[in-house]
Amino acid sequence: MSDRPDGEVAPLPSPPLTHFAFAKAPAPPQRDGIPAVLAGRYRIERVLGAGGMGVVYRARDLLHEQFGESRSSVAIKVLGEAIRESADAHVLLYSEFALTRSLRHEQVVRVFSFEVDTSCQLAFFTMELLQGLTLDRLLLECPGGLPWRELQGIAVQLLDGLRHSHQQGVLHGDVKPGNVMVGEGGLRLFDFGLGQADGQAAVGSPALNRSRFNAWTPAYAAPELLAGGALSASADLYAAACVLYELAQGRRQSGNRPARPGQLPRQCWPALRTALAADPEHRAITLEELRAVLSDTRQGLSRWF
Ligand SMILES: Nc1ncnc2c1ncn2[C@@H]1O[C@H](COP(=O)(O)OP(=O)(O)OP(=O)(O)O)[C@@H](O)[C@H]1O
Ligand SMILES: [Mg+2]
Repeated sequence: MSDRPDGEVAPLPSPPLTHFAFAKAPAPPQRDGIPAVLAGRYRIERVLGAGGMGVVYRARDLLHEQFGESRSSVAIKVLGEAIRESADAHVLLYSEFALTRSLRHEQVVRVFSFEVDTSCQLAFFTMELLQGLTLDRLLLECPGGLPWRELQGIAVQLLDGLRHSHQQGVLHGDVKPGNVMVGEGGLRLFDFGLGQADGQAAVGSPALNRSRFNAWTPAYAAPELLAGGALSASADLYAAACVLYELAQGRRQSGNRPARPGQLPRQCWPALRTALAADPEHRAITLEELRAVLSDTRQGLSRWF
């Protein structure tokens, strides 16, 4: 039925517009060409850390806040200013997001969304905000190495996260103390920026050249990677073993015959030493086997004596 003489239905009065956070006018640029509010939604609070490829900020998700969500803080990764200029760097950033998104594990950082701020043409992705210490910070606090019980928990969780990643066909490519955080929620592995899907030579366009982005961290990269070889599960295992050695000893392994770290139970050393073999042919141990040895220092170790 119509209440209008011409038979037309009267238009409904417009509902009051919901004042979304993203309806606000763009904020003036902040430092490093990053606006104070990214994509009209994420209010940048501070830098959490910066590495060779990107800068990670702490931000408030204004949209979530508007709807009263309790957890409205996120971490946001953007490319570093120097790298941003290169078109294929965005492929690397997206690759990092996509690889991480394919993983769902307690010990792997959770990513939320990949977005582009069209006002400043800046690509970024959002992820869970980690609270805690990266392992390199932890090492500064424990220069003599970590006590075994603490080290054991870290070792098992790190190897669990990496094993899940490998099971999903994702190689990390940059396992190092700065890419692992420990906090109240346990350990998280992050920064898959040099990662790749198993069996894939490189992600993205053929022009993409990881060496341009300062790829592989020499202290943790397996010798075959530094010699130009392909990333492999064995190379990730080597890097994880280097991290565990450093946590146990308080300093990095050096030379061909590293000494057993004092904090490491004697029966764990043969397995860790095998994982540290420079020659991948001699690195005859899997993540599962190393984890089994480190998680149980009482039984099932006969193979490594
Ligand atoms: N989700 C997060 N929550 C809190 N802090 C984070 C998070 N992700 C990264 N960070 C911090 O930002 C630093 C740099 O992040 P990330 O390692 O991803 O950058 P990068 O440029 O890829 O580093 P790299 O030099 O290893 O390539 C980390 O070492 C850490 O301190
Ligand atoms: Mg990093």
